[in-house]
Amino acid sequence: MLELSVNLGERSYPIYIAQNNLTDSPNLSNILAGRKVVIVSNETIAPIYLDKFTSQLPSHDFLACIIPDGEQFKSLEYFEFINRFLLEHNCGRDTCLIALGGGVIGDLTGFVAACYQRGIDFIQVPTTLLSQVDSSVGGKTAVNHPLGKNMIGAFYQPKAVYIDNNTLNTLPSREFAAGIAEVIKYGLIYDVDFFKYIEDNVAEIKAHNSEQLSQIIYRCCEIKAEIVAQDEKEAGLRALLNLGHTFGHAIEAEMGYGNWLHGEAVATGMVLASQLAYLRGKLSEVELKRIVNLITEFELPVSAPSSMSCTDFVKHMVKDKKNKQGVIRFIIPSKFGGCELVDDVTQQELEELFKLHAN
Ligand code: NAD
Ligand code: GLY
Repeated sequence: MLELSVNLGERSYPIYIAQNNLTDSPNLSNILAGRKVVIVSNETIAPIYLDKFTSQLPSHDFLACIIPDGEQFKSLEYFEFINRFLLEHNCGRDTCLIALGGGVIGDLTGFVAACYQRGIDFIQVPTTLLSQVDSSVGGKTAVNHPLGKNMIGAFYQPKAVYIDNNTLNTLPSREFAAGIAEVIKYGLIYDVDFFKYIEDNVAEIKAHNSEQLSQIIYRCCEIKAEIVAQDEKEAGLRALLNLGHTFGHAIEAEMGYGNWLHGEAVATGMVLASQLAYLRGKLSEVELKRIVNLITEFELPVSAPSSMSCTDFVKHMVKDKKNKQGVIRFIIPSKFGGCELVDDVTQQELEELFKLHAN
């Protein structure tokens, strides 16, 4: 069992990483004692993991709110659906929600927890690699709006995060690869040795070596916890976690949510951000190649959709949440293993970037 903490004063919480957290979650009984428990999950995950998880609950008095599977259900409609479920079951302020699933379930459940009766407790039980290394930690909760992804939400921290990396054994390989994109991201923004560790262990990671995956998930959570503890609401440092996301969100929006997985779009976005850094002389050709090669090793896309022009990207990027006074702000490598936020990228530079990218 690996354990670490997100240090946010009285809102601090533990993250537990183990191969058996679904059947034996430390302190869960204490957190849930005497409270109504509502587990939110989806139609894919619940049949595989709901019984396993609930078998350890202190009482059988829990409710399960099951929603359909898909990014399109991270919506105001399903936000309302879960709130209605809670009201219909007379759930009071002492109710604890448990998000059992990937980032979609975690973001949606967290946002309901932030709003229902002005805020109730929730616990994250992430079951995808992406949610174990990123979305379950740090308290970003949200739903999508037809006019933009994650546009309605709140910063609201969970009470605990229970990661069971055995759940990755049932995860489709495309989803596993999408999670690896976020893992590579941590190496690029923060820790060049971690990037090298991933490079040196591609085969073992692809084979789902449990010990190695636990260590990787731990290091990602550790980096995220360090960043969130310093900048919970993204006044500065936390924006670095958005490496690849400015370009990536544009791809997701243009291609239709769910067609490109979030991690796939981030992978291509990281390539574009690295190419921009290369054009600015911040990365060498060899370093750029290492980044593209590692992303390719995990069968992640490194090229933007050929149907998308520079203008298509800009159309979406002008809506990015990082923007200030209408200026698009990008996170790009400032060196190999470090990133910076830049707000002086010209239209001409972007055109040059897409020319380089296409070749
Ligand atoms: P997801 O939640 O859609 O899960 C991916 C697919 O895997 C789904 O079909 C799901 O049902 C299935 N699944 C989940 N666990 C499984 C398992 N163990 N076995 C078999 N199937 C399983 O996608 P995701 O990649 O986990 O999350 C993406 C979402 O996370 C996006 O909405 C993105 O915006 C959000 N996100 C949020 C943050 C944050 O900080 N809050 C960070 C990154 C991404
Ligand atoms: N996934 C980016 C963040 O949590 O800030």
